[in-house]
Amino acid sequence: MSDSVRIAMVGAGAVADYHHVPGIRVDPRAELVAVCDPNQELLQQRQRDWGPVRAVTDYQEIAEADDIDAVIIATPNFTHKPITLACAAAGKHVMCEKPLGVSFEESAEMYRAARDAGIRHMTAFTYRFAPSMKYLRQLLVDGQLGTPRHFRSQRFLDLPETSWSWRQYKKLAGAGDLYDMTIHRIDFAQGLLGSIASVCGAVAQFASRTETVDGGSCDPSEVDDWSALIGRFENGAVGVWEGSTLMKGRHNDGYGFEWAEINGSEASAVYQLTDPNNILMGRHGESLQKVPVPAEFLVATGSPRDPSAGVPSDVFRHDLVWEFVSAIVEQRDAVPSFRDGARAQAVADAVLESDEQGRWVDVACELD
Ligand SMILES: NC(=O)c1ccc[n+]([C@@H]2O[C@H](COP(=O)([O-])OP(=O)(O)OC[C@H]3O[C@@H](n4cnc5c(N)ncnc54)[C@H](O)[C@@H]3O)[C@@H](O)[C@H]2O)c1
Repeated sequence: MSDSVRIAMVGAGAVADYHHVPGIRVDPRAELVAVCDPNQELLQQRQRDWGPVRAVTDYQEIAEADDIDAVIIATPNFTHKPITLACAAAGKHVMCEKPLGVSFEESAEMYRAARDAGIRHMTAFTYRFAPSMKYLRQLLVDGQLGTPRHFRSQRFLDLPETSWSWRQYKKLAGAGDLYDMTIHRIDFAQGLLGSIASVCGAVAQFASRTETVDGGSCDPSEVDDWSALIGRFENGAVGVWEGSTLMKGRHNDGYGFEWAEINGSEASAVYQLTDPNNILMGRHGESLQKVPVPAEFLVATGSPRDPSAGVPSDVFRHDLVWEFVSAIVEQRDAVPSFRDGARAQAVADAVLESDEQGRWVDVACELD
């Protein structure tokens, strides 16, 4: 066993480059030893971007390699399950992108396989790592908000209406905005307030997306562009969520609009993606006021990342790798785990069922 945690990046696309490889670079305990992607041209590009590392096109080679301890899977959704099962069976620790699978059944199978293999497993739910999100959680734990009564989340982006590539086909993606964007908000709501017991959900498609970015044509989208739900948490609180990537005028340099709030019996508190080092907070009779997030929440505990470097809305994303490597080194469960990934997907699937059936649906999340 080497001194460092030797990591392979499976999938060398956008999120690998934006979140995970910078996260590995920040962590002196971690080493990027291999990259896997079937796209040879992209592999060559990544050798230039990321430095020379072993490059392969078949993930089985990663699963079978003796000199790899852990993998980060950042591939299209339909490939998450086979890659995870191969790597888990070979004893590799796995961080996998969200949504874990293309259905709750798939994500539950991945969770059970990882649990039974005894590996560390983590779902890459990025926004749990925003300093303001961690501070909201602490305020709840400390009772500063009183009894949590109500949660609200809005996530609007202004992305093009051209093809979304693999993301717009049910077999490859599972669902659209619901699995791409809203599932993060379902996860952090459950991270803050506990399990969601029942939902009334709705989805809608706004665009056919038959034009590719380079002016070609493709089959129409099969997935939702807007997803919404109201839900009841097991602890008695209620919540409302809404998301879409086709909201004009919400571009905001690519960060879009994101707002999430908790309203408790004593106070309300707000997270905003565009100001992650501050929250808004107010008690009865007051107006919401900006409150700086305390220094201890600005980076992952123990991480050498400089909290004053980089764009705040970007750099907290590098803390996912710190958590994954910490779980491996400290021999503890990672948070959020595959169990959290499956729990969020159970809620998302209940939203689709509710939309189809036009009624409230109890969340079915049998994982043991
Ligand atoms: N956590 C977040 O905030 C966040 C943000 C963006 C994307 N994501 C998730 O990350 C995943 C990837 O998204 P992306 O935007 O990087 O997509 P992308 O299309 O830019 O990149 C995916 C890469 O995977 C490669 N690939 C396809 N099949 C493969 C296989 N069998 N083995 C190895 N590589 C393979 C593709 O060639 C491509 O380079 C998705 O599941 C997406 O939902 C998460």
